[in-house]
Amino acid sequence: IGKNAIDRHTNGLKIMDPGFQNTAVAESDITYIRDGVKGTIQYRDYSLDELVEGHDFEDVSHLLIWGRLPSPQEKLDYRLKLATKADPPQCVIDTIKCFPRETPYHLLLVAGLSAWGATDPTSIPIYMGKELYLGKMDAVDEGVRRTIGASMTVIALINCHYRGVAFTPPDATAPMAENILIMMGIIDPITGQPDPKMVRILNALWIVYADHEMTNSTAASMLVGSGLADPMTCVNAAACALSGPLHGGAIDLAYKMFARIGSKENVPQAIQDVKESKFRLFGYGHRIYKTVDPRVKHLKKALEELWENADADPHVSVAMEIERLASQDDYFRSRNLNVNADLYGCFVFSSMGFQPDIITALMLAARVSGILAHWREQMGKPATLWRPLQIFTRAKL
Ligand code: ACO
Repeated sequence: IGKNAIDRHTNGLKIMDPGFQNTAVAESDITYIRDGVKGTIQYRDYSLDELVEGHDFEDVSHLLIWGRLPSPQEKLDYRLKLATKADPPQCVIDTIKCFPRETPYHLLLVAGLSAWGATDPTSIPIYMGKELYLGKMDAVDEGVRRTIGASMTVIALINCHYRGVAFTPPDATAPMAENILIMMGIIDPITGQPDPKMVRILNALWIVYADHEMTNSTAASMLVGSGLADPMTCVNAAACALSGPLHGGAIDLAYKMFARIGSKENVPQAIQDVKESKFRLFGYGHRIYKTVDPRVKHLKKALEELWENADADPHVSVAMEIERLASQDDYFRSRNLNVNADLYGCFVFSSMGFQPDIITALMLAARVSGILAHWREQMGKPATLWRPLQIFTRAKL
């Protein structure tokens, strides 16, 4: 409690907690970061490790949102329902295409999803009665599926726009990870199907990124959701939050930083510059993890598999040298600064052939399931508007 904690004029107690470092804002049944020091993650009743080993992303998406793994029939139904929601209205295609190819993904995503929502005003239910969503889980589930389908498609459309390739409509029978590759036109010219190894790795990556409890972007979405906004609007809020350089935007900056450092030989000087606060090491540090992020091992495994027959991204040697030197350096050790999962995930995506401009969007494609699991959980409880307090710092009149 800070020195301004007690507001004598309202006789209320205010907790001053900048950045919510010690404040829980919700109870949740979805994801548990068991211990930021030991570093393990649990989705519902399963460890992340067992889900990565034995399941695909559709299972995990269903598990996060509806609380249990789907039966084979439920999985097929889920796939079909998502795919039927994923066919884009023409105005969404036109909206994405009308922007310059250099436009950052999150602005295109917000434009595309907003256009999608605008094509069907019924997607934003009219407030009548006591609660908008509570007790109307069919409407909630419909909104969840619609938003996942639309998000996948808009992300595929953005990649097609960036690369100047034609968009392929979704295949209603294809699993989610396959379908996004089909929509992006990333298929084998002979079989007409995506490479099974790429699909397998994308499934693993998406499971790793599917949820991470109360991240900054999930919290942004829940803040908007607390006012009972519709799910597409909540995902837009999350995408905007994710773009910040201290959050998902760090990936882009990490890439620029590696390019500037250039080669392994320049890493010691770069480390010195970080210690002298000349710049921040993007892709390093985490609010929760004070040890190596438990997701990193899955990402390193995927990288090893990809590098069996492909050249590593040239930035990786710089990144590895930074990691080697930082792990021996007191500045980083005393602050528990470790490489974060987003950085390694970035190298996995780039080794799969994706360009840096779409990588955070591909991570978000998975996270939309987590974000909507939280939205659904929030809508299943009586509404509580999030409205933080502030401490006024001038003299009061
Ligand atoms: N490079 C250099 N020093 C750092 C870094 C970094 N990446 N991260 C933290 N520090 C230092 C701070 O300067 C501070 O040092 P001090 O005690 O001498 O003042 C100390 O470590 C503690 O840092 P905080 O900023 O208080 O730690 P916090 O938990 O608030 O920050 C954050 C977490 C924002 C992720 C931070 O580590 C950071 O900015 N990292 C770089 C950006 C990044 O990669 N973000 C992605 C995170 S993962 C995600 O959100 C998708």
